[in-house]
Amino acid sequence: MLNWDDPLADITNKASENAAPNLAAELDGDIEETIVYSAESLPMMSPTEIVEDTGATGLERIEMGAARIEVDDKKIINCRADLNQLVPFKYQWAWQKYLDGCANHWMPQEVNMTADIALWKDPNGLTEDERTVVKRNLGFFSTADSLVANNLVLAVYKHITNPECRQYLLRQAFEEALHTHAYQYCVESLGLDEGEIFNMYRELPAVARKAEWALPFTQHLSDPNFHTGTPENDQKLLRELIAFYVIFEGIFFYVGFVQILSMGRRNKLTGVAEQFQYIMRDESMHMNFGIDVINQIKLENPHLWTETFKQEMVQMIRDAVDLETQYAFDTMPNGILGLNAPMFEEYLQFIANRRCAQIGLPEQYAGVNNPFPWMSEVLDLKKEKNFFETRVTEYQTGGALSWD
Ligand SMILES: [Fe+2]
Ligand SMILES: [Fe+2]
Repeated sequence: MLNWDDPLADITNKASENAAPNLAAELDGDIEETIVYSAESLPMMSPTEIVEDTGATGLERIEMGAARIEVDDKKIINCRADLNQLVPFKYQWAWQKYLDGCANHWMPQEVNMTADIALWKDPNGLTEDERTVVKRNLGFFSTADSLVANNLVLAVYKHITNPECRQYLLRQAFEEALHTHAYQYCVESLGLDEGEIFNMYRELPAVARKAEWALPFTQHLSDPNFHTGTPENDQKLLRELIAFYVIFEGIFFYVGFVQILSMGRRNKLTGVAEQFQYIMRDESMHMNFGIDVINQIKLENPHLWTETFKQEMVQMIRDAVDLETQYAFDTMPNGILGLNAPMFEEYLQFIANRRCAQIGLPEQYAGVNNPFPWMSEVLDLKKEKNFFETRVTEYQTGGALSWD
């Protein structure tokens, strides 16, 4: 039987009993025999490291007749159980978000970009300020979604020890790839300089500052020597989840969303705006999933949510609001589309209050209102179905199959 409580003792004992993998026994047909690799056969790793490393899947080896996974075996972090069994579900919210994400599937090529191409080519179609806003947002988002995708698969995934959450993370990772694809598709459709857009995060300070802010919050989790399981490291995980889900995807995306969606509302670049509308719907779910994960970690590990830690998170959110407000001023110094930078300051404070409340922190900005109430309506695509260009609904994937 696998011992879920103390796998370290289990593997250490077996490693010393077996000097080499017992391949001969398996070839003799002794399928009950478990192959156990000795510490010597993996000279770079101590037995402790072997256990921690295989802990990414919770499965050190297959053992026939091991106890079935029960709901109570599951934990959102630091779970010792085998993570290869999706059911029974413990976190229905995670599975539901996976289903909802799949139900919202879309592809960038489905969006009609014809009117956008004509408008962009028309010298009088858009003002210079409008063109700047579009290019800066494509520059910021094209790198931002790549950062998020890399953070998910190379840093976060390993440390979330629950299969239904991982199922959603895999869906999210694909959606992030679609978002990067969407920006590339916009750049290609409008005939923009791809070098200029995709290098903006290291050539334009307004864009660089936000990418730079996020980078340190992926470094602990992506370090192969980092393991959760101590209060200090579990707080690092929590901090980095808040940085990416609540701040990066939950605050830093919203000036850009308002700017681009405002263009769509004024019948300008409706294709680009529709791409961003689908992206915002995905991002809203990513953030809500992240908030559920954060709250579940808090629920199962209340000792992590100390007063000091809460104060640190509040300060992090307040700093992020300042940084994103600066981005609003940098990207639209003159005001366009009936928008101006001070409106964004209030909007960001309004959003920050909501984010704080969602993770159980006190609201920070008294008396602020939402200057863009239409943003919540844009999230509901059904209400807006006649707003943008008609969506192309026929998929080509079926036609691509050939058995000949
Ligand atoms: Fe994204
Ligand atoms: Fe996202």
